[in-house]
Amino acid sequence: MGWLVPVALVLTMACDQPASDPTPASLVEPFSSRLDRDVHSYGNPDEVVVRHLDLDWDVNFDQRTLSGTAVLLIERVADSADTLRLDTRGLSISRVEVAGDAGAWLPAPFRLGDKDPILGTPLEVTLPEPVARVRIVYATSPEASGVQWLTPVQTAGKVHPFMFTQSQAIHARSWIPLQDSPGVRVTYRATVRTPRALRAVMSAANDAETLLDGEFTFEMLQPIPSYLIALAVGDLEFRAMTDRTGVYAEPALVEAAAAEFDDTEAMMVTTERLYGPYRWDRYDLLVLPPSFPFGGMENPRLTFATPTVVAGDKSLVALVAHELAHSWSGNLVTNATWRDFWLNEGFTVYLERRIVEEVFGRARAEMEAALDRDVLTAELTRLDDRDQILRVDLVGRDPDDGFTQIPYLKGELFLRLLEEWFGRDRFDSFLRGYFDHFAFRSISTNDFVAYLNQHLLADGTDLAQVLQIDAWLEQPGLPDNAPHSDSDALACVEAQVARWVNGDAAVGRLDTDSWTTQEWIYFLKSLPESLAAEQMVELDEVFGFTRAGNAEVVHQWLLIAIRNGYETAYSRLETYLVTIGRRKLIKPLYDELVRTPDGRARAEAIYQMARPGYHPIAASSIDEVLGR
Ligand code: BES
Ligand code: ZN
Repeated sequence: MGWLVPVALVLTMACDQPASDPTPASLVEPFSSRLDRDVHSYGNPDEVVVRHLDLDWDVNFDQRTLSGTAVLLIERVADSADTLRLDTRGLSISRVEVAGDAGAWLPAPFRLGDKDPILGTPLEVTLPEPVARVRIVYATSPEASGVQWLTPVQTAGKVHPFMFTQSQAIHARSWIPLQDSPGVRVTYRATVRTPRALRAVMSAANDAETLLDGEFTFEMLQPIPSYLIALAVGDLEFRAMTDRTGVYAEPALVEAAAAEFDDTEAMMVTTERLYGPYRWDRYDLLVLPPSFPFGGMENPRLTFATPTVVAGDKSLVALVAHELAHSWSGNLVTNATWRDFWLNEGFTVYLERRIVEEVFGRARAEMEAALDRDVLTAELTRLDDRDQILRVDLVGRDPDDGFTQIPYLKGELFLRLLEEWFGRDRFDSFLRGYFDHFAFRSISTNDFVAYLNQHLLADGTDLAQVLQIDAWLEQPGLPDNAPHSDSDALACVEAQVARWVNGDAAVGRLDTDSWTTQEWIYFLKSLPESLAAEQMVELDEVFGFTRAGNAEVVHQWLLIAIRNGYETAYSRLETYLVTIGRRKLIKPLYDELVRTPDGRARAEAIYQMARPGYHPIAASSIDEVLGR
């Protein structure tokens, strides 16, 4: 009955607030003003707000559904409010009931509105006075956009099925009826029943020691936005790394994953030193099967990660730095709407760079920044003006379509400009203060600007103008004060490419002995667009790219192979596209393929085999590439 304790009280106890910043009881009030309304939710948190969820599900692998109940603890914000409005997508709702703080459940009138192709279906529940809890009995659809159901063949072990959710940006509504807006924060408890021998894990307190008896319970008593609610079920083993970090993965992968992510504790220590305490108790990673559509997802306490980062040499673990950094930028201080997404990702890339610099050295951080500089340049060439704006206008659009590299990389450059202008010490303490001040709140770009004005820009006249803050946030392109990203190591790689291209040295004589993965990636990116058949053969014979193990290196090589019709790599291309479902690694390959009629035919044939294994998010991106 723990959840009957007034939620505000639980939160005040659970949130680790610094002594200097006393926590008002209104901590979880939506912070942003109504001007910053979330256009991607039907929810009405200004009238009735959901504060806590009690979830109870059966995980049915045969039917590919979650079925059970969601109990929503609500609070009336506007006295006159008599309706609770929620987001849903594809849910079968069999019953809605309401109750007071205690007392019996009574059936409540509810109405499902028209289905919107982007937003889903609003659910309106009429509330009698007084009501504190709403219970919804429902099941998800097998096609839920936020859930992927995998057959045993799609797992490493090949014996057990697997399922996982991906709620960001607006997919939580496809498996939980709720106010699916990052401006609304909830605590939750959950009970999950699974087939025996499988393990369920959530973005909550997980007990690695729990018996695998088919029933799991979870609690997340810090208020989080809905896009961070996550569940996975499969044949999962746990390996501790330190006393507060560990890895969940299929048994065949868990040892390698724990070795790969061995630097996680060092990253945590560094981030805490720079930006204040880690407020989520444990930090574990879950390694998913290869169809996971993203590199990583910062589900609180339990980052979800693609197995393609387990490269064997820690070369891709900047991804862990990134997802860990979200424990401050994103999970603690959250974008109030998806147009403020750069507050999550721009800050996180900035923090990621700082963590990489501390843990792996300056050269590595500079390489990653220089690689991203080229990605940003390409992105600015590709996108029309409105999508180059940090505070992007997403009205009438699926937030998934607005997810470009702009919020990540232009956002990072903007923060780096502030760092360079004010100096590291000052900027670090500014950021630390920012995370403390807005901890456990959802804020808009305007809230950030107000805080910036007050704390960094107040001591100089016209500083906002000098720094071109408005151009950074509201205009396309890059302002002329954008910091440069130079890497000595990558400049050396360019010099090696030039030796080969100018005929000064054969491939085998290039100086590549000490190259890291980042240098290899840059090498491949720096090669001329068009290469002769003999050159492709020579490169492959000397460096063995077609059979390389690193998924990012192979990705770059396959792009070149497609562009230059290098048939030797086609069978690797096919295996790659059929086994990996990470959107960032597969979409550019399909994009490259469809540029020629032959390539398009190959893309269609491969996609035919690959699509059933792709996550709905990845499949819908590739559908678009192929014009389906
Ligand atoms: N939160 C994002 C992933 C995401 C963004 C999912 C938008 C759904 C909608 C995550 O933190 C992220 O940025 N992942 C990157 C890796 C990172 C190292 C840049 C990815 O998956 O590629
Ligand atoms: Zn991110």
